[in-house]
Amino acid sequence: MAAHVSVGHGVFSAMAMLILLCLSCASSAEAAAAATLKQRLDVRSHLRRLNKPAIKTIHSPDGDIIDCVHVSHQPAFDHPFLKNHTVQLRPSFHPEGLYDDNKVASESPSKRISQMWHVNGRCPEDTIPIRRTRKDDVLRASSVKRFGRKKHRTIPRPQSADPDLISQSGHQHAIAYVEGDKYYGAKAKINVWEPKIQQSNEFSLSQLWILGGSFGQDLNSIEAGWQVSPDLYGDNNTRLFTYWTSDAYQATGCYNLLCSGFIQINSDIAMGASIYPISGYGGSQYDISILVWKDPKEGNWWMQFGSDYVLGYWPSFLFSYLADSASMIEWGGEVVNSEPDGEHTATQMGSGHFPDEGFGKSSYFRNIQVVDESNNLRAPKGVGTFTEQSNCYDVQNGNNGDWGTFFYYGGPGKNPQLPVGSKQTCTMHHV
Ligand SMILES: *[C@@H]1O[C@H](CO)[C@@H](O)[C@H](O)[C@H]1NC(C)=O
Ligand SMILES: *[C@@H]1O[C@H](CO)[C@@H](O)[C@H](O)[C@H]1NC(C)=O
Repeated sequence: MAAHVSVGHGVFSAMAMLILLCLSCASSAEAAAAATLKQRLDVRSHLRRLNKPAIKTIHSPDGDIIDCVHVSHQPAFDHPFLKNHTVQLRPSFHPEGLYDDNKVASESPSKRISQMWHVNGRCPEDTIPIRRTRKDDVLRASSVKRFGRKKHRTIPRPQSADPDLISQSGHQHAIAYVEGDKYYGAKAKINVWEPKIQQSNEFSLSQLWILGGSFGQDLNSIEAGWQVSPDLYGDNNTRLFTYWTSDAYQATGCYNLLCSGFIQINSDIAMGASIYPISGYGGSQYDISILVWKDPKEGNWWMQFGSDYVLGYWPSFLFSYLADSASMIEWGGEVVNSEPDGEHTATQMGSGHFPDEGFGKSSYFRNIQVVDESNNLRAPKGVGTFTEQSNCYDVQNGNNGDWGTFFYYGGPGKNPQLPVGSKQTCTMHHV
């Protein structure tokens, strides 16, 4: 607490000095210098908030620093409503799936998906691994306030897709979805790739969305999957991520543990850390299993990664609609197209290849399930698919014994062979 007060005081006196300095600001250069100083102080205090004292620190080969932070010192407990919270060490209930979680995608590899930092150590019991946020991470964001947060209104909204709105927001999706019931969770195995990102302010992700509300300003969402996001992480690595919001990405929520909300209990898996191996085109295929479900007793939303790792939970009080149940589930890919004037980015979704190429070439979601009102995992009924521009990124669903409900999705974005300024947005051949 003492440290906190002195930080605040430091910022305050520096601000006072800035104001004094600026009474005599003679040039815009001085004003700019003052603004830079203010930004530096903002960044520093934000980093102090995010990076908690570590019991052990592990340097990952990918350049990440992983801090092992005591469970009770994690960022969640900065939330005013969590001041007296007793951490739940396990869910009171765990839904059993219809499929064998240990069955790997392709025949050859016995290697399971893991996190890169594990090669240099593990976190002790009673701690959780947190990817350290560095100054440059925050400086890449448009502002300290926006760091770690999605822009609003990026949710894929089947049915009412207004083409004008879509091209303005630049977010493009290829998804499968269900709606019209009460849902208490969702599960899927997601094929892992490393899509190419054309510009650093774009991203490509593959995830599930647990949605509550009707796409208004109070939309509730819980999201988990993998992403490549140069702006958020400073590289092109494929990373495990989560997201939550209770007001359509406006004031609440964030990626991973970049704000208070999610309570982590697991010492093996770091949110936002790189995962490997990555699937190869025509080569070995890898997938991650993600399960998010609502504890029927406490009401919290839990998340599991793979067959072994229960990561933690989002307390029910964070949400309005989701405090009861979800009204829609979506699974699939999202990219940002930042090219203006009808041009299209070559940022890839999934593997960067279209669904019709099939296994080993196109990315997939398989064994898609929902948690129903009786808290059982079951195959979803009435799965719809949606994409804004199928010649950029497409989706094709199917069903079979081993894979249950599945779909292939993704695409290359702009075809590099198209002439500059061509009216064709993406590929010429695909229908
Ligand atoms: C936490 O507990 C203290 C002491 O019992 C109490 O005064 C305070 O109001 C509680 N805070 C919350 C947010 O419940
Ligand atoms: C990420 O990939 C893009 C091209 O796809 C490249 O231009 C950029 O340098 C890469 N960034 C890093 C940090 O490796």
